[in-house]
Amino acid sequence: MFSSKLEEQLNHQVSLESKASALYLSMASWCEKKRLNGAASFYYAQSDEERQHMLKVFKYINEMGGHAKVPSVNPVEAEFSSIKEVVERSLESEKTVTSSVHHLCELAREVQDFGTLNFLQFYVVEQREEEVLFGNILDRIELIGMEGQGLYYIDKELEALAKQKIKTEGLA
Ligand SMILES: [Fe+2]
Ligand SMILES: [Fe+2]
Repeated sequence: MFSSKLEEQLNHQVSLESKASALYLSMASWCEKKRLNGAASFYYAQSDEERQHMLKVFKYINEMGGHAKVPSVNPVEAEFSSIKEVVERSLESEKTVTSSVHHLCELAREVQDFGTLNFLQFYVVEQREEEVLFGNILDRIELIGMEGQGLYYIDKELEALAKQKIKTEGLA
């Protein structure tokens, strides 16, 4: 029997992944407007990846006999003061998603839904990787600095990360 409380929380996870996808799309747009094309590619890929995360939970809910709900679209921020702020906000957003995943794991254990607990392991690993990724990018920004050619090199780093991501995640 699929717990209705778990179904509700999984639908909440759908809305968080969807929100992350929208936020990264908005960041891609901001980067593109600033001519940071490498960073824009990175955030476009990041947005696609979050949509895949959203779909994976979405389909799982229905597979379990629940009802996956399309989250309402809320406006996301469109303006950022710098690429550093963009990355800081990304890390912050990932941390929010991580807490939700952990909460879901606790709930699945509580209702002894070990299948769902197993399904959630992908998200546990994913969130750890994403927090490390954004933490590393922030470290690089600190190291390189945003003065002079700094921005150019940060953009190149993000371009390389985007290529890697597109390859490993099989994104278009
Ligand atoms: Fe995600
Ligand atoms: Fe993420």
